[in-house]
Amino acid sequence: MRADLDPRAADRPEHMTIEPMTSADIRAVMQIEALSFSTSWPSSAFASELNDNKLAHYFVGRLPNGVIVAYGGIWVILEDSHVTTIAVHPDHRGKKLGEEMLVHLLREATDRGASWITLEARESNGIAQSLYRKYGFTTVSTRRAYYSDNGENAVVMWAGNLRGDLYRNRLATLEHELRIAIGKSGVR
Ligand SMILES: CC(C)(COP(=O)(O)OP(=O)(O)OC[C@H]1O[C@@H](n2cnc3c(N)ncnc32)[C@H](O)[C@@H]1OP(=O)(O)O)[C@@H](O)C(=O)NCCC(=O)NCCS
Repeated sequence: MRADLDPRAADRPEHMTIEPMTSADIRAVMQIEALSFSTSWPSSAFASELNDNKLAHYFVGRLPNGVIVAYGGIWVILEDSHVTTIAVHPDHRGKKLGEEMLVHLLREATDRGASWITLEARESNGIAQSLYRKYGFTTVSTRRAYYSDNGENAVVMWAGNLRGDLYRNRLATLEHELRIAIGKSGVR
């Protein structure tokens, strides 16, 4: 049966390779950005993060055909890290690609010496918050009217100690389950 006629095809895991974002990727990233956020970053913000911010580390996820379907970024400042953005193309959501990207960001943060990680999410973004909670993030505060487009509150979430045994064991277990779910022998 042709794959595009197979009703099970939509449920199949997608194999994504995660690599550092380059300037050449910004165009594809901007397309996902526009489909994912009500207020998009301008392409100049990504260019500045890639070229001028030594604390920033950005990644894209590509399918085997080279198409970029996900991206994410962090800042690492000594022991502290911050997830600045993460998104998956709407056509490819619900297939563990966002989770794979988050795991990559968490590994990158710990590899670079971070013990703590934080992020903001819209109060209404239950999907993202659910993903973050799965990886041990808890809500520590609310920033009132943080988002200028609609005055929505941001929840500030935080996880740590990333380098402690408790978190490392939790991450290893989740990564193992993720590898099984996506049919890969290794996440990175
Ligand atoms: C948030 C986002 C990155 C998740 O990516 P995804 O590839 O669709 O999610 P995954 O398939 O990897 O799912 C991982 C986890 O996310 C949560 N999740 C994903 N889809 C969900 C849904 N429809 N309902 C509830 N939780 C959901 C679950 O916790 C899930 O774990 P589970 O499968 O064990 O239940 C994606 O929805 C996205 O790009 N959203 C728009 C941009 C955005 O909001 N970014 C976050 C800004 S803070």
